[in-house]
Amino acid sequence: MQIPNTLSDPRPTSTSRLDTVPTTGGGAGAIAASPASPPVAGEGASEGASRPRGEPAIRTIAMPADANPAGDIFGGWLMAQMDLAAGNVAARRARSRCTTVAVDRITFLQPVHIGDEVSLHADIVKVGRSSLTVQVEAWRRSRDGEEQVKVTDARFVFVALDQGGRPRVVPPALGESY
Ligand SMILES: CC(C)(COP(=O)(O)OP(=O)(O)OC[C@H]1O[C@@H](n2cnc3c(N)ncnc32)[C@H](O)[C@@H]1OP(=O)(O)O)[C@@H](O)C(=O)NCCC(=O)NCCS
Repeated sequence: MQIPNTLSDPRPTSTSRLDTVPTTGGGAGAIAASPASPPVAGEGASEGASRPRGEPAIRTIAMPADANPAGDIFGGWLMAQMDLAAGNVAARRARSRCTTVAVDRITFLQPVHIGDEVSLHADIVKVGRSSLTVQVEAWRRSRDGEEQVKVTDARFVFVALDQGGRPRVVPPALGESY
């Protein structure tokens, strides 16, 4: 997808200090905010693991109001929690407001029950010019047990926005020197 000319880029334009990576839309290439931006495939996921990696972005309890008539938690509630977790991580990295532009490969693996503790893990797996791709996993734990079970995963794409609501370039991560 082409970046409109209106997109303001505060960084130097020399490509010698910036990486070119393929765009999701198959365009001519986007400027990566970080030379160390990891590849998308497989990164950030805990495929087949019995525990999530790292600390959750948010943790919450599934309540009766979040359940369907069968007593399982609505998938839409879970998606909202995933969006909140991913958006929190994206906004912190972008240091600006971010909006969700796409959700990809959402998979519901196991039901969530009323009273479960739900932990949302979110890892940035790609930084584009204005976009950030976040791999999100939801894990449940019965409130009286220790076992954690992955219930959902998905990939969320956010776009960093300026104060006028237009896409803006994601700045270098804190600690990057260019
Ligand atoms: C997000 C939004 C501002 C992007 O506007 P746009 O004109 O498409 O912007 P661009 O074409 O410059 O694309 C911006 C970035 O998003 C990416 N993008 C756009 N659509 C995408 C899609 N469907 N999937 C993945 N990435 C996408 C582009 O590749 C580009 O990434 P890059 O800058 O890292 O290369 C606009 O689409 C919007 O406001 N959407 C509504 C968002 C919203 O309301 N979300 C909440 C839903 S409840």
